[in-house]
Amino acid sequence: MTTGPRHETDALANVPANLYSDGLLHHMGPGLADNITQGLAEGDMFRTTPLWGIGQRLFFLHDGRTSDLLAAIAAHSSGGGNEDGRGNHYPPSEANGVIRKFDALAPADKQAILDFLRSL
Ligand code: HEM
Repeated sequence: MTTGPRHETDALANVPANLYSDGLLHHMGPGLADNITQGLAEGDMFRTTPLWGIGQRLFFLHDGRTSDLLAAIAAHSSGGGNEDGRGNHYPPSEANGVIRKFDALAPADKQAILDFLRSL
């Protein structure tokens, strides 16, 4: 991402910020849903966490449910439906297609992505 043209600190205008996030809200499916509505985010929606610094973090995802990067990636994938019996119905995760592509990678390519994440 490149910062905007105007910033209160001139040096921070028009510079690249390596967020590794699109900064947007996404439907992530019933597997990650917390059923909490916050602003525009419905109960299965989360803003993509910037992956900048992920190599220094110990617990991943909004509830810190795992310290295993592969499990965090797998948790992106979930079909539509409702897991908690509270009547919430959610669409499938928007990340399903990308996670299918990740799953299809050769072991060495998966490892390269994990190494990249740990380097951030
Ligand atoms: C193979 C590709 C992907 C990888 C390696 C990846 C990696 C990760 C990791 C490691 C986290 C945990 C961040 C943290 O706890 O600080 C995360 C969170 C997240 N990612 Fe991805 N991601 C991928 C694709 C996607 C796609 C395609 C989307 C959306 C369409 C997405 C949306 C999100 C969201 C919303 C979160 C926050 C979820 C939560 O906090 O429960 N990711 N991602």
